[in-house]
Amino acid sequence: MNLLAIETSCDETAAAVVAETGDAGRPWRIRSNIVASQVAIHREWGGVVPELASRQHVRDICGVYEEALAQAGIAIDAIGAVAVTQGPGLVGSLLVGVAFGKALAWSRGIPVVPVHHLAGHIESLTLAHGELPLPAAVLVVSGGHTSLYFIDRPGHYQLIGRTRDDAAGEAYDKVAKLLGLGYPGGPAIDRVARAGNDRAFDFPATRLTHADRNRPTSTADGILPAGIARRIDFSFSGLKTAVLRVVRERTGGQPDARAIKAAASDDAGARLPASEVADIAASFQRAVVDALLDRTFEAARWLDARSIGIAGGVSANTRLRAEAEARGARHGIPVFIPPIALSTDNAAMIGAAGFRRLRSVGAGKFDFNAEASLVLE
Ligand code: KG4
Ligand code: ZN
Repeated sequence: MNLLAIETSCDETAAAVVAETGDAGRPWRIRSNIVASQVAIHREWGGVVPELASRQHVRDICGVYEEALAQAGIAIDAIGAVAVTQGPGLVGSLLVGVAFGKALAWSRGIPVVPVHHLAGHIESLTLAHGELPLPAAVLVVSGGHTSLYFIDRPGHYQLIGRTRDDAAGEAYDKVAKLLGLGYPGGPAIDRVARAGNDRAFDFPATRLTHADRNRPTSTADGILPAGIARRIDFSFSGLKTAVLRVVRERTGGQPDARAIKAAASDDAGARLPASEVADIAASFQRAVVDALLDRTFEAARWLDARSIGIAGGVSANTRLRAEAEARGARHGIPVFIPPIALSTDNAAMIGAAGFRRLRSVGAGKFDFNAEASLVLE
């Protein structure tokens, strides 16, 4: 069967055609994967403007859908189901995709499958590499999420760790803005960090211990020992503040709270020499990558995982990819990361998660709605 997938949760309007292969080890293949990026529109504002995003989705969705069919070389009657991102994300953006997906499926008399955006990122791994050896520890690291999942059987995602404050991608975007590197920040930091000294600054890697135990309930309870479960959570806001202090000191300001806030909004780093920006970027990146991989590998060890997966926009990061593979080789555990086109937001991954859901729980009823905060656990 061919499935048409739609993704509009943030600032990319995406449509894809994904087909089943009949091969249980490698169940899906991409027939087309179209993404219309809105980066040029939001760059001017230094970040995604929700109202502009949803308006642009309305403009782009029909063309992106038609292009997905054209590149797959099929007509709409060859599509057997529609999958669409239900959430989480910007509600106005999600609504465009959900309305389009439901209308299309209804008019064709075919099923519609609501998909969780993070399930999409997770299934990008199987789409690219085939079924992972299970159990697996899968880190989803994007602009809105830093979440670690335990997967013991296909399609069964158990949340075992997550960020207490900023997502890793959000920290990249904020630090890039502070350094005057523009939007989106992740690729910019990735690029300039290559010329920097990653030991120039010793930024703190936040470790959550019993002092931070105000976690209501741990979703990892029963999967990880209590003391370990606590250690698996992430935190990036302290790191962001540490970078702010360094920038502020080096641009001649006092590192008090008010000055730090001002520095955060005026791109103070743009006044630093390029070599210093590169050193700060490289040191920041080292701290983020270490924090992500320390916890992921620690969890994998406790879980006796047979593989590790890393997905989401930040998995496009050069250092994260290289270090994850090196650590995997050292620890004798295979590490799977999608190719770049499937790391950042796309609809093919929604198609993969759509098939997973269609073949396990079945299609959705037509009364589901876009959900800005939808939990996958
Ligand atoms: O998954 P994604 O495309 O959208 C969300 O679901 O959030 O992730 C976007 C995030 C942004 O924060 C962006 O800065 C980050 O992924 N990103 C990167 C890189 N490419 C994208 N972060 C670090 N290094 C990269 N090369
Ligand atoms: Zn995403």
